[in-house]
Amino acid sequence: MEASPVNTCRRPQKKQRMSKPDLQAVNQDFIRYDQVEKSHTYRLAESDSDEFDDGYEIQTFDFGQYLHGDADDRQAFAEGFGAAVQEIGFSVLTNHGVDKALYDEIDARTEELFTTTSLEDKMRFRAQRYGSVSQGYFPIRETSDIHPDLVEGWVWCRRAFDMPQERREPFEPADFWPDVRYEPIFRQLALAHEALFKPIAQAMFQGLGLDPHVYDDKLTNTNFGLRLNYYPPLAAKEDASGAGRLLGHEDVDLFTILPASKVSGLQVWNHMSRKWVRLDPPEGSLIINTGDYMQRITNDRLPSTSHRVGKPLDGSHRDKARISFPIAVYVWEDEILDVLPGLGTPKYEPIKAITFHTRSTSKFYGDDYAVESPLNGER
Ligand SMILES: [Fe+2]
Repeated sequence: MEASPVNTCRRPQKKQRMSKPDLQAVNQDFIRYDQVEKSHTYRLAESDSDEFDDGYEIQTFDFGQYLHGDADDRQAFAEGFGAAVQEIGFSVLTNHGVDKALYDEIDARTEELFTTTSLEDKMRFRAQRYGSVSQGYFPIRETSDIHPDLVEGWVWCRRAFDMPQERREPFEPADFWPDVRYEPIFRQLALAHEALFKPIAQAMFQGLGLDPHVYDDKLTNTNFGLRLNYYPPLAAKEDASGAGRLLGHEDVDLFTILPASKVSGLQVWNHMSRKWVRLDPPEGSLIINTGDYMQRITNDRLPSTSHRVGKPLDGSHRDKARISFPIAVYVWEDEILDVLPGLGTPKYEPIKAITFHTRSTSKFYGDDYAVESPLNGER
């Protein structure tokens, strides 16, 4: 990382987007969009020339030690978990209190949603920006402008759920759901994971020697993005196209909670070996990774680590779908992202969350996605 005292925010420059994604593209081709330091280089799509690191193990922790332990237990957990996340930006949690049966139910309902909803119905909810987040349905190959990901996606933020929220607009489930019976089902998942937002953040901050509660207010009824991913079985032509299941990227959020998938494919960049690590923890466990917001406010201490979804080694992608349902934890658009005190000379200036978020993600959605909002101004 650069040690410059203040990293002024890069502003995306107006540029004609490529008419067709370049399958040879690397992350540094789009580095002007990033709002935290990312000095490494990797190809967005999986390639035969990629190297894998089979010797590195992403660590697993018993979250019950933090949730139910005494002060010493919490401190011990925070130190171990914090060190693991500082090293690679990823870890795995067990004993987190969410019943595996809920994940089985969500997995089945996700497959049902994608395979029984007509394309016409899906397209009525086509993704568009609301606040910071592009919300709604993403057709296959259209998750982003920069890579033809072989995945269908669907993103719902807090406003799509009948959940407590201060920014209540008249709630009409049919505005968000192709069949309103899905809302209470997926709401169970959102609520179960929302209960983990503060404990996970508290453990991360405690691991850095900070006040564990420094983000408690911001995380109360905060915004999030629940994304369902449906990776369909690949026909031979798609399999040979050179496109990956999900491009290499970093999450833009504070952190992401990702229940382990039934089908492997997640790969994590190890900055130490400069190779990819296959991460395939047991079902029922949770993968936790830190994102760009967190790297920014921790002055690069907790990294936003690159990851992607490749094809399973056993070739099962030819006849088997893969399903995942990560939830990205955000702060509301008008919050200020500022380096937390106690973490050295700030490398970054304070920035409004909507500016930070949309400058970063205009990489995926086009330069006009970025919303410039002054620190003290209204959006
Ligand atoms: Fe991600």
